[in-house]
Amino acid sequence: MMGAMGNFDVLPDSVACLILSKLKNAQMVAQCAMVCHRWKMLSQLVDTLAFESFKLFEKKVDKNSKASCLEAIVTHMLLNTSGIRNLKISYHPVVWPWIPNDYFCEEKVCNWLRHVNMSLEQLTLVDPNRAKPQPEKLLRLSECKKLQWLNLCYGMIPEVPSSCQRFEQLRTLYLDLIAISDESLATLVDLSPLLEDLKVNSCKGLHSPNLSALNLASLEFANNLDVSTAMIHSVSVNAPKLVKVSLSHVEKLVIDGSALLELDLLCHVRADIRELPALTNLNIGGESWALDSLTHLIRLATNLCCLHVDAVIDWKYPVQIQSILHHLLELHSMHIGADFFECLQAGVGTGPLGISTMSLPRLASLSVVVGCGSHSCILVLSTLLKCAPMLHTLTIDAEDLRKSMDNITFFTDILGLQRDHPHVKVTLVCPNSLV
Ligand SMILES: *[C@@H]1O[C@H](CO)[C@@H](O)[C@H](O)[C@H]1NC(C)=O
Ligand SMILES: *[C@@H]1O[C@H](CO)[C@@H](O)[C@H](O)[C@H]1NC(C)=O
Ligand SMILES: *[C@@H]1O[C@H](CO)[C@@H](O)[C@H](O)[C@H]1NC(C)=O
Ligand SMILES: *[C@@H]1O[C@H](CO)[C@@H](O)[C@H](O)[C@H]1NC(C)=O
Repeated sequence: MMGAMGNFDVLPDSVACLILSKLKNAQMVAQCAMVCHRWKMLSQLVDTLAFESFKLFEKKVDKNSKASCLEAIVTHMLLNTSGIRNLKISYHPVVWPWIPNDYFCEEKVCNWLRHVNMSLEQLTLVDPNRAKPQPEKLLRLSECKKLQWLNLCYGMIPEVPSSCQRFEQLRTLYLDLIAISDESLATLVDLSPLLEDLKVNSCKGLHSPNLSALNLASLEFANNLDVSTAMIHSVSVNAPKLVKVSLSHVEKLVIDGSALLELDLLCHVRADIRELPALTNLNIGGESWALDSLTHLIRLATNLCCLHVDAVIDWKYPVQIQSILHHLLELHSMHIGADFFECLQAGVGTGPLGISTMSLPRLASLSVVVGCGSHSCILVLSTLLKCAPMLHTLTIDAEDLRKSMDNITFFTDILGLQRDHPHVKVTLVCPNSLV
């Protein structure tokens, strides 16, 4: 640092300040501020500060209250700045067990927020408070009128104080590991008229949130059951501009899907959606799927480009492949996991849903996972190859083929398919036992 200082002296303030802002790490800024008067002055001009406990002292300090240690550093430095736009204060206890009641004092946090309330645009606050709600903090946050981007981690929001103002400029809201009620979440969303991006990660206390957000484009409920212990029963959203939804461990989704482009569902979701006319990407994975929920979604999505199904299906029964895929004229790439592939049956005859009426004119890339190398599986592959003239890659993952040693027919049949469709590059992943 000292070596660099000599060179920094010749830089104009504006440039030096820009470099200082890029440091982000508060400790480095602090060291700089100690070196000379000029840096002390410049430290007041930085607009970006990041205080991260694990970078600053996690390994060095071994006191009972680490939060108060970081608190002192933040107070000393932050209150000497003017015009902070991006602020990250992260006390993330990485040591287990956590020290109980080791979190920032609400009054201190309120002072920080008051100090930056004219300039703050982006805030990450990780404060491992699992003991009591701190409603004042929310009030101070709502007074930061330029706040556009907010990530809160830990804490409790059982209710939003009635005097909470609107988050007029807030576009992005990420909530991690917060104990929050359905009503509080809905109120926060109501108070944020410009909200475009909402991510709720492993928050406790949610049962059936019902959100209304006119500008919301992206919604994610990443529900890690290890941390939050309960499924979310349903998520209802009234958001006409919603283009991307990603859910995990949510039992039911109620939306108007008319603008939706991307839908990502991990673990069984019953979808109460009337139409998905614009959807291009559908990604279905995880446990406990009911086959009819899955096929319902695929049937709704008439404009699909990418379909990725890697779901564990609870009750498997045969479904005719053309009844599920015949409408997918835009489909470009498709992945079919083992369970879904096992359910698919090639149809017979040339009726309205017969093979000859199915066409996947744009399908270029197909991958399937084969668990059972039966004759019916070869028929399905053969059907797909016949109705997809643009197909150039077919990947068959037969690594978990059951009883594959008994059944060499499967592999000779695959070779037959390759012979009949020489323009398709077929890649076969064989079981280890076979090699
Ligand atoms: C701000 O910096 C001055 C020196 O420039 C120092 O005396 C003062 O203690 C600092 N303020 C805070 C709140 O730490
Ligand atoms: C910002 O904080 C100051 C005190 O530091 C306070 O006087 C002012 O009212 C606050 N601004 C808003 C918009 O609440
Ligand atoms: C969600 O709230 C709206 C009113 O804001 C209501 O009309 C709708 O029925 C609710 N949806 C559910 C599933 O409760
Ligand atoms: C082996 O091949 C036969 C004939 O193709 C098929 O009927 C049978 O289901 C296959 N067995 C396994 C375990 O894949």
